[in-house]
Amino acid sequence: MKVVVTGKGGQLVSEFEALKGFDPNWTFLSEKDLDITNRDLVLSYFNTAACDLVINCAAYTAVDKAEDEKELAFKVNAGGVKNLLEACELIGAKLIHYSTDYVFEGSSKVPYGELDTPSPNSVYGLSKLKGEEYVLENKQVKSIIIRTSWLYSSFGKNFVKTMLSLGERKSEFGIVADQIGSPTYAKDLAQDTLNILSHDNYQWISGDIFHYSNNGSCSWFDFAKKIFEYSDNEVILKSLSTKEYPTKAIRPNYSLLDKSKFENTFNTRIRNWETSLFEMLKQELAL
Ligand SMILES: NC(=O)c1ccc[n+]([C@@H]2O[C@H](COP(=O)([O-])OP(=O)(O)OC[C@H]3O[C@@H](n4cnc5c(N)ncnc54)[C@H](OP(=O)(O)O)[C@@H]3O)[C@@H](O)[C@H]2O)c1
Repeated sequence: MKVVVTGKGGQLVSEFEALKGFDPNWTFLSEKDLDITNRDLVLSYFNTAACDLVINCAAYTAVDKAEDEKELAFKVNAGGVKNLLEACELIGAKLIHYSTDYVFEGSSKVPYGELDTPSPNSVYGLSKLKGEEYVLENKQVKSIIIRTSWLYSSFGKNFVKTMLSLGERKSEFGIVADQIGSPTYAKDLAQDTLNILSHDNYQWISGDIFHYSNNGSCSWFDFAKKIFEYSDNEVILKSLSTKEYPTKAIRPNYSLLDKSKFENTFNTRIRNWETSLFEMLKQELAL
């Protein structure tokens, strides 16, 4: 199977690259190689490329900046997806596309299921939802949407790396404690996406949505506490409320995802967030 992965340079793609090593059937494309917002370029690239599956990791992910760059966020997170779908339809390729817990508003008290109605609070969430809608509207392309949350990795920028860097510079700071969700180690997501491809019993349809994060739940404060505990850093953390730490984009207070459909369909048990975090930090800090 020939696979093309967009968004090279990002955290998730980097985990795919690390897992695949050099595999001539896998092509990784950066924005410079293929800007997914350029319809003509996308169509002409796929017109000549051998490709059975597109994995779209390209995205505009600057959640706060998106409030000021609405047009660009929609261009990448919605328009780019539409272009890839058109290309997939043209050449008969399947699509795996990633979305976010930020499509939910966050007032639930129980984990969000795939059938719950999205209602984003932010431009980023709205732009990702529009991308999802394009995928769901296209009945010709066999496709999977994987909604994930709080992604981190040894590669790229993320909360874990920000905490490690803050911990080197400050002995005390505050972290929001009233937003609940679950971290996702991008390596686990990449590995479990690969497992989908080798799952013979899975019947591809158009617009199959799955939720995926590591198991367990925590607040950003709990997450930060674990990062410092596992990295033996004695930072003093103060718990803050969302009101005390206002951000340009409104985040959901609660965005835990129900992963049972993913686990049941692919006959797997997703790792607990603490186990995965420990592994990542071991690698990052060579513990
Ligand atoms: N990060 C999270 O916490 C989080 C949470 C939930 C869901 N997700 C979703 O998970 C997926 C992977 O996220 P990630 O954290 O790996 O993203 P990331 O690290 O921000 O990487 C995204 C990649 O997309 C590239 N890109 C941006 N615009 C592009 C364009 N027009 N054409 C081609 N490539 C373009 C970026 O290139 P440049 O760096 O050069 O701009 C970057 O390499 C995304 O769909 C994201 O929405 C992420």
